[in-house]
Amino acid sequence: MERIMSSELFENEEEMSLRPQSLSEYVGQDDLKSNLKVFIKAAKGRNEALDHVLLYGPPGLGKTTLACIIANEMQGNIRTISGPAIERSGDLAAILTTLEAGDVLFIDEIHRVPKQVEEVLYSAMEDFYIDVVIGKDQGAARTIRLDLPPFTLVGATTRAGDLTAPLRDRFGIVSKLEYYNTEQLMSIIKRSSRVFDVTVEEDAVTEIAIRSRGTPRIANRLLKRVRDFAQVYNDGHLDLNVTKHALDALKVDALGLDEVDLRYLRGIIERFKGGPVGLESLASAISEESTTLEDVYEPYLIQIGFVNRTPRGRVATPKAYEHLKINFNGTLFDENL
Ligand SMILES: Nc1ncnc2c1ncn2[C@@H]1O[C@H](COP(=O)(O)OP(=O)(O)OP(=O)(O)O)[C@@H](O)[C@H]1O
Ligand SMILES: [Mg+2]
Repeated sequence: MERIMSSELFENEEEMSLRPQSLSEYVGQDDLKSNLKVFIKAAKGRNEALDHVLLYGPPGLGKTTLACIIANEMQGNIRTISGPAIERSGDLAAILTTLEAGDVLFIDEIHRVPKQVEEVLYSAMEDFYIDVVIGKDQGAARTIRLDLPPFTLVGATTRAGDLTAPLRDRFGIVSKLEYYNTEQLMSIIKRSSRVFDVTVEEDAVTEIAIRSRGTPRIANRLLKRVRDFAQVYNDGHLDLNVTKHALDALKVDALGLDEVDLRYLRGIIERFKGGPVGLESLASAISEESTTLEDVYEPYLIQIGFVNRTPRGRVATPKAYEHLKINFNGTLFDENL
């Protein structure tokens, strides 16, 4: 079956081939995967569309990939659009009316869908129709109802908390994507190295995995850069030595923290005595966007136990001091905050 995709979200063909096509190829997220298998099988057995799916979590964990896989597994087409690109309800109507039964409409950054568009989504999701106002400009506005085929809306967001309750409640399946462990990242790196047609030594795969911040997109990016270094300095041989050299040159530290992570941690420790410090104050002290820190950087630093989010602000933990090799002054820090 032909697959329709708006190509703007896919950087290039290589990016496409890095994406697994089926649930069985999709590494990790085991609970979500096994639940989805059941829901997909049941929906197909009843000859219905799969219930709407909301995927949330930090960038690069595989939300877009999963949306494509859901369409594949349902043997439907996928239409992709980003929330902020749907400016008016007419834009949404235009997409919705191209859908066929069983198709997937993937709305990326769904928390950024404008309010009036969101209201059109409600009836589309719940009862598969939309009310379209016509003739408004001629002063003879009337509403016509357009029936839609049963479809599955897959929404993705890095900020589930920004979704309104009515929208969130219309998703039958809501799932958070988790960071990947080293073993899972290793299997993703091995798969990608086959796509790139390069051989990577086992200890080099481990090293890249450890330094990937639990994130498949970062793992793939680091693999590409290591491949470049290997090609230029090591006859194309991806061993541990050239891998370490490349990752150090990219300023990715032993735990995968990058320059922004380190500035964030140093910011709390050196400028705010380890915290607690409010996100906005910290963001302006280190000249970063607070939303970027909150969506991209903090989730991982919290996951590895370097930062605690307390009601009074962000606090660096002893683990963070240790990693930065900064002496920890116990009187400034209360772990129970
Ligand atoms: N579970 C997985 N197994 C194998 N590869 C994966 C997996 N998840 C993600 N990837 C790879 O990581 C890359 C990023 O994934 P994807 O674009 O789906 O992330 P995303 O969650 O949509 O990120 P964003 O929030 O930034 O849009 C893809 O190129 C894909 O190949
Ligand atoms: Mg995406």
